Amino acid sequence: MEYTKITADLLAQIKNIAGAENVFTDEDALANYAHDETEDLKFFPEVVVKPTNASEISVLLKFCNENHIPLTPRGGGTGLSGAALPIFGGILLSMERFKAIIDIDMESLQAIVEPGVITEEFINAVAEKGLLYPVDPSSKGSCFIGGNVAHGSGGPRVVKYGTIREYILNLEVVLPTGEIIWTGANTLKYASGYNLTQLMIGSEGTLGIVTKIVTKLIPRPQQSILMLASFAENEQACAAVSAIFRAGVTPSALEFMERKGVEWVVKYDGIRFELKDGVNAFLLIEFDGDDMDNIFKDCEKVNLVLEGFGCTDVLFADTAQQKEELWRMRRTMAESVKSNSVYKEEDTVVPRAALPKLIQGIKEIGSRYGFESVCYGHAGDGNLHINIIKAGMSDEDWQNRLKDGIIEIFQLTAALGGTISGEHGIGLVQKEFMSIKYSEVNLNLMRGIKKVFDPKAILNPGKIF
Ligand code: LAC
Ligand code: ZN
Repeated sequence: MEYTKITADLLAQIKNIAGAENVFTDEDALANYAHDETEDLKFFPEVVVKPTNASEISVLLKFCNENHIPLTPRGGGTGLSGAALPIFGGILLSMERFKAIIDIDMESLQAIVEPGVITEEFINAVAEKGLLYPVDPSSKGSCFIGGNVAHGSGGPRVVKYGTIREYILNLEVVLPTGEIIWTGANTLKYASGYNLTQLMIGSEGTLGIVTKIVTKLIPRPQQSILMLASFAENEQACAAVSAIFRAGVTPSALEFMERKGVEWVVKYDGIRFELKDGVNAFLLIEFDGDDMDNIFKDCEKVNLVLEGFGCTDVLFADTAQQKEELWRMRRTMAESVKSNSVYKEEDTVVPRAALPKLIQGIKEIGSRYGFESVCYGHAGDGNLHINIIKAGMSDEDWQNRLKDGIIEIFQLTAALGGTISGEHGIGLVQKEFMSIKYSEVNLNLMRGIKKVFDPKAILNPGKIF
């Protein structure tokens, strides 16, 4: 696609719109915003703009439309699919100055928040008021709530509480053509035409720029129990997952970790954990609630299920510190693998009961192509993250053959009734695989929606399809 390069004259106009103090073209700034957390990909923007309000963004988008300049919005830069990479240059729009928690409404249990608020800061602010906002991806300490909206984010508690889709009631959005709209209403339900709020969620910044977010909040459970179950085989752990729900309990987290993942965090993150011989897979299981007796009853039911799947040991986290350490082990797994190896990250999701077949298939494909994989993730949602490690693969095979292996993984995922991303999104790096799951009819519907919102394709072009 051909876009207009930003000349000195156009840059002067951008400074006029956003204020010179909010516009950056120095090398450091461009380099800082040239990457997110996706592999080692780098695309330099021509200019970085840090707007402070929706009206500025509106004028800027009209200007981009008139001049055919691409604009890529960015939150905390923790994305794993390259959705925030300015692949055509142009303007990188950082939402980092939208930092206000505007209101926490204790009567309706709702909040209004700006998209540049760090997710964990929002979680903590509502927790101080005895409330829970349960969307807590592993990157919660640095990701923005706006980026979470853009990706339909999840995290470990989805299994009980749902993804961000369950918590967003209404959004203020600046459209690519410059109009500012609210997508819905500040209500828990509505049946009033197409649901534009849900359409915006997961649209990866391709349909509009979110400038205000209305969320639902729920009461904060007072108690929790965290247990770590060990298994000799990946398949046993994965098969136990769906059986746990069939036993009539719903954990507040149910995470799978392969032994290799734990080895990586022990080795590289200095996390203390004794790995016993013969243990090759773990389930990290949490129950929460207000009544300890009920929580214990759920744990007993789960223990019975685990016994039936060859679980060799169950460790209960006794103290807050032990809970924190176990969670850190799980949450730092992605980072640990990534910072110590050449890798590729995939994010598969299947119906829960298909997990054993998925993990078996991934290992079988890996052995045929010669790559190793470290698998972990939100097993309770059927969502498995696969870190593919270069290991003994030659550079040439890594460059040329790996893609066929990934295609096979996604074909398997689709055949099992799943899809190619559970929470990391499509962005840049997964778009070539969309046709494995979606027909041309599906993709044309998506393209058509994009065209209605963004007729000149200036907003985050080149993403999703
Ligand atoms: C996690 C991120 C990688 O689950 O989604 O740790
Ligand atoms: Zn995850």
